[in-house]
Formats: sequence, structure tokens, C-alpha cells
Amino acid sequence: MCGIIGAVGRGDATLDTLLAGLSNLEYRGYDSAGLAVSGEELSVAKRSGELEVLEDALEGQSLSGNAGIGHTRWSTHGAPTDANAHPHTDCTDSVAVVHNGIIENYQSLRDELAAAGHEFKSETDTEVVPHLIESLLADGASPGTAFRQAVDRVEGSYAIAAVFAGSDTVFAARNDSPLVLGVGDDATYLGSDVPAFLEFTDRVVYLEDGEVAELSPAGWTVTTLAGDPVEKEIRTVDWESEDTGKSGYDHYMLKEIHEQPRALRQCLQERVNELAGTVDLGDAVNETLRGVDDVQLVACGTSYHAALYAAELFRSQGVRAQAFVASEYVTSPAPHGENTLVIGITQSGETADTLSALRDAQRRGVETLAVTNVVGSTAARECDGVLYIRSGPEIGVAATKTFSAQVVAANLVAAVMANGDTSHEFVSALRDLPGQVQTVLEETNAEAVADRFVDADAYFFIGRGYDYPVAMEGALKMKEITYKHAEGFPAGELKHGPLALVTGNTPVFAVVTGETGSEKTVGNVKEVEARNAPVVAVTDGRTDVERYADEVLEVPETDPRLAPVLANVQLQLVSYHVAKQLGRSIDKPRNLAKSVTVE
Ligand code: F6R
Repeated sequence: MCGIIGAVGRGDATLDTLLAGLSNLEYRGYDSAGLAVSGEELSVAKRSGELEVLEDALEGQSLSGNAGIGHTRWSTHGAPTDANAHPHTDCTDSVAVVHNGIIENYQSLRDELAAAGHEFKSETDTEVVPHLIESLLADGASPGTAFRQAVDRVEGSYAIAAVFAGSDTVFAARNDSPLVLGVGDDATYLGSDVPAFLEFTDRVVYLEDGEVAELSPAGWTVTTLAGDPVEKEIRTVDWESEDTGKSGYDHYMLKEIHEQPRALRQCLQERVNELAGTVDLGDAVNETLRGVDDVQLVACGTSYHAALYAAELFRSQGVRAQAFVASEYVTSPAPHGENTLVIGITQSGETADTLSALRDAQRRGVETLAVTNVVGSTAARECDGVLYIRSGPEIGVAATKTFSAQVVAANLVAAVMANGDTSHEFVSALRDLPGQVQTVLEETNAEAVADRFVDADAYFFIGRGYDYPVAMEGALKMKEITYKHAEGFPAGELKHGPLALVTGNTPVFAVVTGETGSEKTVGNVKEVEARNAPVVAVTDGRTDVERYADEVLEVPETDPRLAPVLANVQLQLVSYHVAKQLGRSIDKPRNLAKSVTVE
């Protein structure tokens, strides 16, 4: 998804600061990058393609100025060309604008501006903004007033920032698209997320919808669109800048897979009391969960698979629970009762589909809880309650450690819904889980399995009960980073259609853990084997599935509710190694974005 960086007060280091910010934003996925620096003159540089292309174009140039904005674009309106890359400027090159989101009324604004003589250089929705500002400046408005009045005319979702020729002030505003200020000692930053500027400061101010920030060398202010001052709290994020580096791993994805033991420990810390066998998520979350008898989980992608798992878990203890793909929930909202809770599971806390579903629930008067990784994210701020999964920054586009932490968080929620009481055995199984993940990481044969099946025509994944979401997640990971056909199915569904796809060159990964239904899955494995498909069993050894498998990915035995985390780690590693062998862009797979802020 598109990313924004801004900096004011960096003097000669402005250009380098913006380039560093753009590099920090690369993980979100993009197809073009650009920046504008304002000093006496306004200088703009932008290119389609990787950031390196822009850096090459800037070689030998010293864009000078004390204020600047930068952007990574993920195309929505218009192809990824130099002209469509941000920043966009007006006819007189006196203002440069970057924008995340979608301007819904851009066509009528563009028609109006074109009729008034403005000439457009791109196909983007964004370009209407600098031209609107230009016309307001021509009518005598100051830059700040022109910015506010232009933003006021825009409908849709946006995070917008603008910089003006001859000025070292950056203006920014948001509606339905995240924007955050970074407060440094001598400089102020702007980012569409915290990692954009985390290497410069960890003190942040989150902007809300309808607020306008003004960043100048004298400091920063936040006002409403109408200009009324707004008091903002400066918060310190507890992420370290080093957390966003690769620490010697070839890819962020591999690093994050290996960070899972730590992520799970952090998720559990001070929440489980082993001696008492109890779970405590703090008064606010405990209160939100009290008396809930119906849970609707809304989420997308990998987080949806965690939601599927959580629904199964809640149902197993007698709570009505269902997982919904967030975009479908909005299209067809589920009926709710007095004690319904809608839980949004979202790593980023910024996924537009999930936010829409949560807002829809709130409009209908249903209580909401966000389960998210990002402190201060939109989901965290808007929901009635928030449970942080504490995984640390996840940079690789493919979600890995956050899925595992979401599954663990679901277990904590389940325990609190059961009044905080859980068995000593279960609490010690939770405590042992990070160490067992470590064992899987150290002893895995996933790379050999990947080597053997790298040339397969397609990959299928099956599982039942808690293993079904793992099968779905295994397939999603495989398809998104290897670009190969992969599908996950409930094991029992295979014979109702998908079996027609199974051949000698379509390995079937059978996730067989725990006891419930495992024998039946072994039966499904035999059906596959009879059709000559290679079978990879991902198993805790409770059944004899190995007898029918060509390869086995073992996981240590644990409570059946937790085994899916271990099985999933094995599948993450297989996908990673297949993608690596195929030379794929593992951390930034084609067409994908880390934070999907459009519906
Ligand atoms: C897959 C992946 C995506 C996200 C989805 C939801 O690896 O990363 O499918 O899971 O876009 O994102 P969040 O969890 O941020 O709401």
C-alpha cells in the first residue's frame, strides 16, 4: 500500500531523511516512489519502479530545503508510470502533494478544474488536490487556508501532505487513512506508519480523522479542519529501530519466523499466572469480555485464518462464535444479540475492510474489541477494547509471527471468557509453547521437503478442526510468496470436488494434530495416496499418518489447542524455502501490500 514520509527541520539532511523514510516504507509494497523538497524553490523527483531507480535519478543532485515529503505508490488510479508517481504538483509548480487513499469525487473536481484551465499531467485522483490548492492560492488564500479548504472539498479516504515553494512548512490531514507525527528533538516527522521514521524518533502523535497537522521548524500543531486547536498526547512506542532491520537473515520473513518464540513470550507475559492457573488481560479487556455469549470475528487474509481458529476455540467452550471475512460482513451484516461482541483481528490495525466491519458493528450498537499488533492503530483507537498481541514490528508482507501470536491471544480471550480459570496443565502448555516453536525451528526438515517439491504443479493443504485454519494459512502463504497454485480445504471436503485436481505432481500437505477427527483425516490421506499424490504429513505423532506419508514434518506434542501453532511454523518454512528456490521477491511479493488501506 502507499506510504508517506515527511520531515521538517532536518536542514541539509532533508533529502537523505526522506530517502531513508522511503526505504523504511518499502515493505508495504509499492510500484513507484517520489519526493519533494522545499527551500527557496520546490524540487520534485519521482520514478516508477524500485526506490533505487529514484536514487539513481537523484545521483549528483543536492535538493536543498528544510522541509520535504515523500511517497511510495501502489497504483489504484492509473498505471505505475513516472507521471502517475507522487508527489503531484499544480500548473505553476508551487505546491507538491502526496496522498494515500482514494478520492471518490475526483472526476467532478477534475472536470471543474479542467474547465477553469488547469492542465493535468497524470491520470491519478490525487492530482486534483494541488490544482485545487493552486486555485485557492490564486484567490488570495494563505498556504494553510488553501490546504484546509482544498481538503474540505475532497470526499473519500485520504492521508494527504503538502509542501509549498519558498516555505519550510508541511501541512497534513487525514480521513480514514493513517497518519502519524514523529516528534524529534530538533525536527518533526510525518509517516503513514511509525516504522517510516522510527530510526529518527520513537515519540509519536496519532492524527485523527478531520485533523490537520502543521509541521514547521518552530515545532508542530494540530487543529481541526476549521482551525480550532486540538490537544494531542505524545506517546512513546516501545519498538526499537533495530527491530525493523534484518539482523543477518536473508529476508525479513525468515527473521520474523525465527522471532516467534520471543513474540509468543511477549504475548503471554504478565497475562498468565502459572501458579494459580489463571489468565488476566487487564480490567478493561476482562470487562469487555464479561457476559459475552456470542462472538462475531471479522478479519482478512491471515488474520481471518486466526479468526477461524478462534471461532472454533470459543465454540469448543460453548460460546456461539463465527468468523467472517470482513468485506463480506459489511456486505451482509450478521444479526446480533444483547451480549454479542465483535472482535476485529488485524495485525496492522489499519485494514480498511476490517475497520469497515468494526464501524458497521459499532453503528448497530454492538461492542467491539480489537486484537492487533500496532499500538495506537486505528482499530486500537476506535474499538471499545483493545488486546495487543505484542509481536514487535512485522515487516515482511507475509504475516508469520503475528498469526502465531493471534492464535495465542485467542486462547487468552477464551480463558477470560471462561472467567479466567483454566487448568494448570493448559497454562503450562502455553508456557512451554515458545520453547516448542524453538524446537521446531531448530529441528525442521522443511527445506528438504521444499527441495523435493519445488517443481510441483500445485500444492494442496488439508486439515480438520483446529488444523483446518492451518491448512488454509499454509496454502495462503504458499501462493502469496511462491506465486504457485495452492489451495487449502477442510479434509472432509476433498472428496467432494477438489480430489479431481490431485495428481502425482500435486503434493498434499495433511495437517494431522490432536485427537478430534484426526483418524478421519488419516482416511482422507489414504484417498489421496491411492491417487498417487505425494503426501506430506504435518503431525504430532498421535496417529499413524506417517505410514501413508512420503515426507513427515514433525511437531512436538502439546495441548491439541496449541498444536496448530507448531504445525503452521513448519508450513511457513516450507513456503519460504520453495519461494527462495524459485527466486521470488519474498518480503515484497508482487501485487501485494502489507497494510491494505482501501476496501
Ligand atoms: C498474508 C497477509 C494478509 C493480511 C491481511 C490482513 O500473509 O499478510 O493476508 O493478513 O491483509 O491484514 P491485517 O492483519 O493487518 O488486518
